[in-house]
Amino acid sequence: MKESVCFSLFVFLILHSLQCILPCSFQVDTDVIIHWFQLTAGDFCTHSYDDNQDQLEHQHQSFRNRTSLFKDQISTGNASLQLTGVKVQDEGTYQCCTSTMTENDNSFINVKVDGMKNTNYNKKPLINSSIHQK
Ligand SMILES: *[C@@H]1O[C@H](CO)[C@@H](O)[C@H](O)[C@H]1NC(C)=O
Ligand SMILES: *[C@@H]1O[C@H](CO)[C@@H](O)[C@H](O)[C@H]1NC(C)=O
Ligand SMILES: *[C@@H]1O[C@H](CO)[C@@H](O)[C@H](O)[C@H]1NC(C)=O
Repeated sequence: MKESVCFSLFVFLILHSLQCILPCSFQVDTDVIIHWFQLTAGDFCTHSYDDNQDQLEHQHQSFRNRTSLFKDQISTGNASLQLTGVKVQDEGTYQCCTSTMTENDNSFINVKVDGMKNTNYNKKPLINSSIHQK
């Protein structure tokens, strides 16, 4: 399983907008549909994309205004999700479901938010989103 470690400085800078990228890619083809779910909290719909646009009517309220895809890179098979305002509640396993004309795919990403370790808030980078392939 891939893992994104997102260091959050929420303890020190509550209003600081922290972000995290959850990686996901797919085989390029037409009719792209992307669904992101947070499984740990109860299969919450985190973000959906269909018909060449975001479809956020079923998005869980805890992710409102905090998610975005890299629109200009969807055509290259990049379905990575950017999450801003990262908080401890965002921890857990996420599922990235992609579907195209020819292929359906699923991947799982484990997100860890760490606001305690990084006590030196002048240190860069503030956000650690290294990915581990288990
Ligand atoms: C997707 O695009 C973002 C923004 O450019 C980049 O950070 C990320 O590494 C890309 N992910 C993949 C899987 O290509
Ligand atoms: C999300 O953004 C819209 C437009 O900027 C705003 O009207 C709305 O109040 C925001 N919702 C939340 C939950 O922050
Ligand atoms: C990022 O996280 C990885 C894995 O936990 C760790 O090995 C690395 O040292 C971290 N990098 C920084 C800048 O904290």
